[in-house]
Amino acid sequence: MITKKIPKILFGADYFPEQWTEEVWQDDIRLMKKANVNLVSIAIFSWALLQRDENTYTFEWLDKIMDLLAENDIYVCLATSSAAQPVWMTKKYDDILPVLESGLKLNIGSRQTYCPNSPSYLKFSRLLTEKFALRYKDHKALALWHINNEYAQKTKACFCSTCETKFIKWCREKYQTIENLNKAWGTELWGEYYFDWEDINAPKTSSGPRNSSKLMDYKRFISESFLRCYLNEYDVIKKITPDIPVTTNFEGDFKNFDHSSFKDYLDVVSWNCYPNPSDPYAQWRVALRHAMMRGLKKKPFMLMEQAPSQVDWYPVNVAKRPGVMRLFSYHAIAHGSDSVMFFQWRAQKKGVEKYHSGMVPHYGDESRVFKEIMELGKELEKIKEIIGSDNNAKAAILMDNDSWWAIETPYGSGVRSFDNSVFWANFTQPFPSICIGYFAEIEYYFNSLYNLNVACDIVFFNSDLTDYKIIIAPMLHVIKPNYKEKLENYVNNGGILILTYFSGVLNEDSTVFLGGYPGPLKDLMGIKIEEFDPLMPDDKNYIVIKEKKDLKLRQEYSCTLWAEVVHAVTAKEIAVYKNDFYADLPCITENKFGKGKAYYISTRPDESFMNDFFKSLCNEACLLQPFSTPDKVEVFLRIKRGKEYYFILNFNDMSLEFEFFKENFIDLLSGKLFSGKIKIDKKDVLVLVKN
Ligand code: GLA
Ligand code: ZN
Repeated sequence: MITKKIPKILFGADYFPEQWTEEVWQDDIRLMKKANVNLVSIAIFSWALLQRDENTYTFEWLDKIMDLLAENDIYVCLATSSAAQPVWMTKKYDDILPVLESGLKLNIGSRQTYCPNSPSYLKFSRLLTEKFALRYKDHKALALWHINNEYAQKTKACFCSTCETKFIKWCREKYQTIENLNKAWGTELWGEYYFDWEDINAPKTSSGPRNSSKLMDYKRFISESFLRCYLNEYDVIKKITPDIPVTTNFEGDFKNFDHSSFKDYLDVVSWNCYPNPSDPYAQWRVALRHAMMRGLKKKPFMLMEQAPSQVDWYPVNVAKRPGVMRLFSYHAIAHGSDSVMFFQWRAQKKGVEKYHSGMVPHYGDESRVFKEIMELGKELEKIKEIIGSDNNAKAAILMDNDSWWAIETPYGSGVRSFDNSVFWANFTQPFPSICIGYFAEIEYYFNSLYNLNVACDIVFFNSDLTDYKIIIAPMLHVIKPNYKEKLENYVNNGGILILTYFSGVLNEDSTVFLGGYPGPLKDLMGIKIEEFDPLMPDDKNYIVIKEKKDLKLRQEYSCTLWAEVVHAVTAKEIAVYKNDFYADLPCITENKFGKGKAYYISTRPDESFMNDFFKSLCNEACLLQPFSTPDKVEVFLRIKRGKEYYFILNFNDMSLEFEFFKENFIDLLSGKLFSGKIKIDKKDVLVLVKN
C-alpha cells in the first residue's frame, strides 16, 4: 500500500488553490467529494507565495487549505515547491539561473529554471523543505511527499561556472591524476591534452564534434547532480517524517538522468503520462513507460499526472474521446499503478497552461469530462482490493543509461522512433548511422512482447535479475566492469539472454574494445564480430533460418537498419544473412552457457520474425497465455496472494470477441459473468476474477 492513510486506489490531481478565491475552494471541495477524490498534490510551484523574502515565510494560506482538505477527508501529496523558485531570489543570487550548452544564460520567466548545483538554490530549497516538514509533520492531511517536479524536464543540463568547477572536482575524484584523465578521454588529438585540472571546461558547444568520453562523463556528472539535488530535500524530510512516503514525479523516458540511481531513495516511484491521443501506438508506448516505473522497485507505482482530456503542448492537441480517459486510467492500473492522478484539478483561466484540460473543465461540472471523471472515481471503489498486487513479470528488458547516452550523445537530440518516422537527429557527433536509436530499440523489443500479452519489466543493472526467465538487452553498447559478471551469472543459472546489434563496443571510458565486439561478452555469446554495416534507410537484407530446433520459425525474414560480420566461435548459427559480402555468415546465433543460453541478433529483424521468435521463446519459458487476443486488445494480469485479476482492455473503435479461459469469471466493474468467449465493447475495460 502506498500510504496507509488511503487504503484504495489514489484518485485526484495537481491542485492549485492559490489561483482561486476561497469561495472557489468551497466549490472545489464539493466537487472533489462528488468525484470521490481522495488525494491532491498541492504547493508544487508555490514557493514565491510561501516565502516573500529571505526571512519571511507565509504559510498561512497553505495551512488553511490543508485544514480544509483534512476536514473533508481529502489527503495531500505535499510538494516541496522547489520546482519554481521566487523571482526575488533568482534576481538576488546570480548562481541560480542555468546556462545552456551554447553558453546562453537563461532568463527569469518560466519554471524549473535553476542550476541543480547552485549553492543558493540548494541552500534555500533545503531550508524551505525543512519548514514544510516541521510545519506539517503531524498534519492529518499529509499522506505523501512530492519533491520538486520532473527533474531535468525543462533544464536538461547546466553548463554554468558552478557546474564547471564541480565537474573539475568530480573528475579529480574519479581520475586522481590528470594523466589518468587524459588517457581515459583520449585527449592526444585535436589539441585537447590537459596539463592542468583548471583547464577542463564544461563541454559547451564548440566548432564541431566534442570529445565523447568527456561528454559521457558530463552526463554522468549532471545525472548525479540531479540526484544530489533531490537528496538535498529527501534527507531533511526523512529525518523529520520518516514514516511519510516520499516520491518525485518522473517523465518516463527521460535520458537526462539515470532513473535507477534514484530507486533506493523513493518510497514509491511516480510518473507523468501524456500520450498523444492521436498516436495509434500510444497504448504500448505508455505500457513500456509503466513497465519502467514498475520495474524500478518491482512494486506498484503511482500515475501522478495524466490529462483528463487534451494537453496544450503537442502541435495539435486533440481531446480524449469519450471513454479514452477511463481506458488509459485502467491501463495504468493494469500495468501496476495504484493511483489515477491528473494534471490538473481545475482547468486554469489564466496563465501559461490555460488551454490544458482539467478534471473540472472551464465549462464546469456539467461537462462531459467531469461526468466521466465522476463515474471513474465511483467505479474505482470496486477494485480497491487490488492495491499492492503484483504484475509478476518474468521477462525483462535491461536498460543501461551509459549505452543510451553513448548512442544518443548530443544534448537535446531526441526521439528516433522504431519505424524511423520521427527523426530529430542531431549531427553534432560522429556516429555510424542516424537511423538507429537506443530507446527506439528498447521500444521495438518491448512491443514484440506486448503484442503477445507477455508482461515485461524494464530493469537496470542495479536490479535483481534472478527471477526473470528471459532478459533482452537491446544495443548494450557500453560494458562496465560488473556487467560481464552479472550477465554471465544470469545465463549460467538458467536465464535466457537476448543481446542485439552494436553491443559490447565501448568500455566505460568510451574506448572501443579491440579484437572483436561484443568485447567482454564474447565468451558468453560465443561469437566474434569483425565489422558492422549500417544499412541505408530503404535497404533490406534477409535472415535465412538454418537451425530451427524448437524455434517455430519461417524460412526467411527481412531485416533492416544494420548488419554485422559475425563469426561463430562456440555459438550455433540460427540464421545467416542472405545478401551482400556477409551472405551465409551468421546473423542470429545461440550459445549454450551453463544452464542457460544467450542469443545474439546482429540486425533489426522485421516484425514477423520478432513475433515468431518471441512466441517460441516465451512458450519455452512458459510465459504465454493459452489464448490470443485481437490486435489492440490487451490482457494484463495483477496478482495478489494468489488471486488473479485479468485486466482486459479494448483500444479499438469496435467491439471484439476472443476465446478466453473456459472457467467462470466475473467482471468486478460491471458484475457481468463470462466464460469461454469474451466480448468486449469498444474502448471498454473488464477486470475479471474467477467466480
Ligand atoms: C508536466 C508538469 C505539469 C504540467 C503538465 C502539462 O507533466 O509536471 O506541471 O505542466 O506537464 O501537461
Ligand atoms: Zn550550473
